[in-house]
Amino acid sequence: MPVQAIAAQCVRLELLGHGRVRAWLRSSVRPQPGQCMLARLGTGAEPYLRSVLFPVAFDHELWAIELAPGEAGRDWLQPGSSLELLGPVGRPAALPAAKGNILLIANTQPARLLPFAAATLAAGGAALLLLARPYPVESLDARIEVRIGHLPALVREHSAWPALAIAHVEPQPAPELAALLAQIPNAHVLLHLCLPCGVGACQACTIRTRAGWKLACTAGLLWPLAELQAQP
Ligand code: FES
Repeated sequence: MPVQAIAAQCVRLELLGHGRVRAWLRSSVRPQPGQCMLARLGTGAEPYLRSVLFPVAFDHELWAIELAPGEAGRDWLQPGSSLELLGPVGRPAALPAAKGNILLIANTQPARLLPFAAATLAAGGAALLLLARPYPVESLDARIEVRIGHLPALVREHSAWPALAIAHVEPQPAPELAALLAQIPNAHVLLHLCLPCGVGACQACTIRTRAGWKLACTAGLLWPLAELQAQP
């Protein structure tokens, strides 16, 4: 589906704890796991850049984003707020058959990985979420196991566990973590990028892959780690 302008409305807010809020949106087009929408969350020209909105949950015709304290739109978005979305940006996730366990690794935005946990749980698998910082874990599906601590140590402890691993680390996995992830078969990275245009025009989302330089907004935001080269 081509990137397009889409009107959306915030239907309800859920307070999750730790100042985080989940905003449920209604729009005619929804992003799929692995895709995002772009939107300016606020009035006027601020913030200048659109926010990157990954889906964190789906419910019939609604889908949800999650905002942390200090994020653009956290205090602006209210039930009834209208948004102008641009998207969907990226490609729907093409993952190996979701059989077995999934290991999810995140620092600042763990909720963006939740659709992958939901798919694995729905297929009868198990999900383990490794977090670098405290998070309102009581808001998560109780079937998701959670460990919080130093990510390299946690990954080292659980690297033999998954059939599939997905890391979403801002700005990108540090060398120690990247080296540990590289030892996991089927390790993927959900890229954490600024996406100013979302349509391949600004070149701000250039990534280095084994097949050459790509634009993440058009080539995709979820990559097998083995296909990515160290970003300069
Ligand atoms: S966000 Fe502009 S080229 Fe990708």
